[in-house]
Amino acid sequence: MSQSQPPISGNRRMERCLSYWSYFLLGITLQIVCTQSVKNCVVRQEVADCSHLKLTQIPPDLPTNITTLNLTHNQLKRLPAANLTRYNQLVILDGGFNSISKLEPELCQSLPLLKVLNLQHNELSQISDAMFASCISLMELHLKFNSFKKISNNPFINLKDLRILDLSHSGLSSTKLGTQVQLENLQELLLTNNNIHTLQKENFDYLSNSSLRKLDLSSNQLKEFSPGCFQSIGKLYGLSLNNVLLGPVLTEELCLELSGTSVRILSLSNIQLTKISSMTFRGLNQTNLTTLDLSHNGLSAIANDSFAWLSHIEWLGLEYNNIGYLSSRSFYGLSKVKYLNLKRTFSKPRNAMFSFPKIDDFSFQWLKCLEYLSIEDNNLLGITTNMFTGLTSLRHINLSSSFEYLKTLTNATFLSLAHSPLLTLNLTRNKISRVETGAFSCLSHLEVLDLGLNEISQELTGQEWKGLENIMEIYLSYNKNLTLTSDSFTSVPSLKRLMLRRVACKQLDISPSPFHPLQNLTILDLSNNNIANINDEMLKGLNQLEILDLQHNNLARLWKHANPGGPVLFLKGLFRLHILNLESNGFDEIPADVFKGLSHLKMIDLGLNNLNLLPDSLFDDQTSLKSLNLQKNLITSVEKSVFGSAFQNLSVLDMSFNPFDCTCESIAWFANWLNGTHTNIKDQPNHYLCNTPPQYHATLVMTFDTAPCKDSAPFKILFMINTSFLFILIFVVMLVHFQGWRIAFYWNVTIHRVLGFKEIDHQAEKPDYAAYVVHAREDAQWIWKHFSPLEEKDSSLRFCLEERDFEAGMPELEAIVHSIKRSKKIIFVVTRNLLKDPLCKRFKVHHAVQQAIEQNLDSIILIFLEDIPDYKLNHALCLRRGLFKSQCILHWPAQKERVHAFYQKLEVALGMKNRAQ
Ligand SMILES: *[C@@H]1O[C@H](CO)[C@@H](O)[C@H](O)[C@H]1NC(C)=O
Ligand SMILES: *[C@@H]1O[C@H](CO)[C@@H](O)[C@H](O)[C@H]1NC(C)=O
Ligand SMILES: *[C@@H]1O[C@H](CO)[C@@H](O)[C@H](O)[C@H]1NC(C)=O
Ligand SMILES: *[C@@H]1O[C@H](CO)[C@@H](O)[C@H](O)[C@H]1NC(C)=O
Ligand SMILES: *[C@@H]1O[C@H](CO)[C@@H](O)[C@H](O)[C@H]1NC(C)=O
Ligand SMILES: *[C@@H]1O[C@H](CO)[C@@H](O)[C@H](O)[C@H]1NC(C)=O
Repeated sequence: MSQSQPPISGNRRMERCLSYWSYFLLGITLQIVCTQSVKNCVVRQEVADCSHLKLTQIPPDLPTNITTLNLTHNQLKRLPAANLTRYNQLVILDGGFNSISKLEPELCQSLPLLKVLNLQHNELSQISDAMFASCISLMELHLKFNSFKKISNNPFINLKDLRILDLSHSGLSSTKLGTQVQLENLQELLLTNNNIHTLQKENFDYLSNSSLRKLDLSSNQLKEFSPGCFQSIGKLYGLSLNNVLLGPVLTEELCLELSGTSVRILSLSNIQLTKISSMTFRGLNQTNLTTLDLSHNGLSAIANDSFAWLSHIEWLGLEYNNIGYLSSRSFYGLSKVKYLNLKRTFSKPRNAMFSFPKIDDFSFQWLKCLEYLSIEDNNLLGITTNMFTGLTSLRHINLSSSFEYLKTLTNATFLSLAHSPLLTLNLTRNKISRVETGAFSCLSHLEVLDLGLNEISQELTGQEWKGLENIMEIYLSYNKNLTLTSDSFTSVPSLKRLMLRRVACKQLDISPSPFHPLQNLTILDLSNNNIANINDEMLKGLNQLEILDLQHNNLARLWKHANPGGPVLFLKGLFRLHILNLESNGFDEIPADVFKGLSHLKMIDLGLNNLNLLPDSLFDDQTSLKSLNLQKNLITSVEKSVFGSAFQNLSVLDMSFNPFDCTCESIAWFANWLNGTHTNIKDQPNHYLCNTPPQYHATLVMTFDTAPCKDSAPFKILFMINTSFLFILIFVVMLVHFQGWRIAFYWNVTIHRVLGFKEIDHQAEKPDYAAYVVHAREDAQWIWKHFSPLEEKDSSLRFCLEERDFEAGMPELEAIVHSIKRSKKIIFVVTRNLLKDPLCKRFKVHHAVQQAIEQNLDSIILIFLEDIPDYKLNHALCLRRGLFKSQCILHWPAQKERVHAFYQKLEVALGMKNRAQ
């Protein structure tokens, strides 16, 4: 049988109706395939699928209202009627591929509604008259692959509604299935692969009241057609005798037997009909044959006028033959043919290395009604001047891989098609290397021109397409080297689809763009061209563009931030774009506004690039996105701010093979979305693996536990509060530790001021002493030696020295307080001894500092006789150098010559006014 048959007007609807059940069965079979792993019957609506379950019994526990039961591929030996009574609603019962050897006559009694019974591939060997006697509703009975050998009596006589009876592969030696007229409604009788040698008239008598749409006797060893054998069938519309080795002689006999029958479809594929003479089909003259399949016959010669008998033929299949020569009268008489298949029909004549099959000019002139012609896969030399002349109805011609030497298409090549209303022309795989000016100018009706998979290498000036006034699609993909210019398509403004995949058209940085005249373009394919340079005007004005293929180019630079002149937004204004493919372009950056306004985008493919971070709101306008592909990029995080809007309505997502960073910030939202979405996730979950952090490496993104991330919002605030508190605390502690004394001091000063202690101005009171000298007893000697000279020099200068100036009889502490009050300043003579002096430590210092607080810090002068570190000073006396002005800190010089300077400094310090700070 041929693969495709033409429509046969009247019978078509009926055919469809009847095929319905077969399709239903096919559906079930598909279901079996899909649900094999389940070990129980799968019940969907009223269909129970129990196939491939190694069942030895009919399952007793299925819903009673099932209408279809599939029991194929099990180990059933019988179909006990008792077990089936439960399922009395069954319409279809399929028991194929079991070991059933016996059938109970009660089966159909239990299943009164049964219409389809399939018992193919079982071990039935006998059909008794009772077996199907009660199957009165049956419409299809499939019994192929059993071994009946012989059918006696009338087992099918009650099957008045039967439409299809399949007894192929059954070892039958005769077509006789009954002794009385029966099977009035039978439409298909399938008897292929039996042992039938002879078709005898009386063996078809039981069909004398039937109208067979199809009698299939293929693959039998028929040797004889007894006279009138087909006449005894009521009506016979379709006959298949494929794979029956008839040869030319028996074929001619067959045709004579068919004379006067109502046969319309005759399938004679692979019958070794090596020659057709002008007498072969003589018998078919008295028929209305519309379809004839002569494929796979090794046919090498068609004599002139052979088909003249077939004036009603509409469909002729001659594919896969060996014809070396077609004369101008070979097809004479085929005036009604609409469809002619000549795929691989021709072959080189034997013993002739450099010759080619020959088709005479005007060979097709008789086929006035021909609409579809295929000459696919032949090795003809080329197109001759009048090769196709006369094909005045031709709409579609397939010349794919037809010619060996069709190198150049000139303005003469297709002249023989000038009067055909040709709509599609397929010229793929013909090694065409050049298209000259006006090559298609005579094909003004042409809508689809396919020049793909050739070797065209030229600059397209636009003249090539001259005259293609109605062209919709030009397919140029997979050619050698096409150079585009601004005018390449100016002559075809009606173009809607343009395919330029892998044509090495690198240079597209042209102004104006080659595509500027194509205002109606909806599909543009520029993939696999290694294009690196385009400008933002390339696609300007293509308002109708819906599909844009730019995969496998080199466009990465165009979207780089650092591109001179900024990123090139070449998608700007393509508002109707539906599908955008940008796979494998090396993109590592993507401008945030590159998809702005493209609100119809349904599919974006950005796979196999180097994208890592996508800008926020990149997909904000893509709310109707259905498919997004970002597989094999360098994406680490999938965040709502980027993908939220794109994921809203997504049906298909592919983000496999990205190095996901499985942390809360990067992946939690995605993992959550994955868990809840209905979107079809490609390769999920095995190719969605975490890359970082190390402890999650190679774990599944899907299993990322988002629970800890959920509390992260309040946790974050808490964390912030905690850390700030900690920092402040540390700061305070450090401050107190290092500057606490200063703070404490200023605190005291402030308290005193605020509480209104009056500043004591000793100058107003005229103090008795210039300074009270605090020193250790051990240092008294030094004091005398160095302070008395000062007193002698300046009579107004008088120090208060404990040993000399304390009033006798006064208690020591009182005397100290009294004296300090009467002194303008307090001098500490700091030595190690002083630090040890207990009185000093506790009382004098406290009191001095107290006074200093009340008065001013300037009132204290420190004289260091030895080098004392600050911490020791602080430890012993609670004083620090830092508290005092530098003028108030004096060091007793080691060198004699500096002593004079020391005195001067001391005088300055003593003379300083006690000012408020
Ligand atoms: C068939 O039976 C099942 C339960 O046995 C029931 O759920 C289903 O609705 C029934 N179908 C019809 C069409 O009655
Ligand atoms: C043949 O079919 C016709 C109607 O289609 C019917 O009237 C006639 O009885 C049938 N003949 C036999 C022998 O069944
Ligand atoms: C075909 O092209 C040739 C030149 O290559 C020209 O002389 C001739 O007129 C053209 N024929 C037609 C029908 O345009
Ligand atoms: C583009 O399409 C519109 C609408 O289908 C049509 O009217 C117009 O003629 C087309 N333009 C060209 C140049 O074919
Ligand atoms: C999502 O798709 C549905 C139908 O497929 C549509 O009605 C709805 O508007 C879409 N949502 C958005 C946000 O576009
Ligand atoms: C996925 O969602 C279900 C409920 O919708 C929840 O029970 C389950 O824990 C979730 N799984 C993960 C890994 O988040």
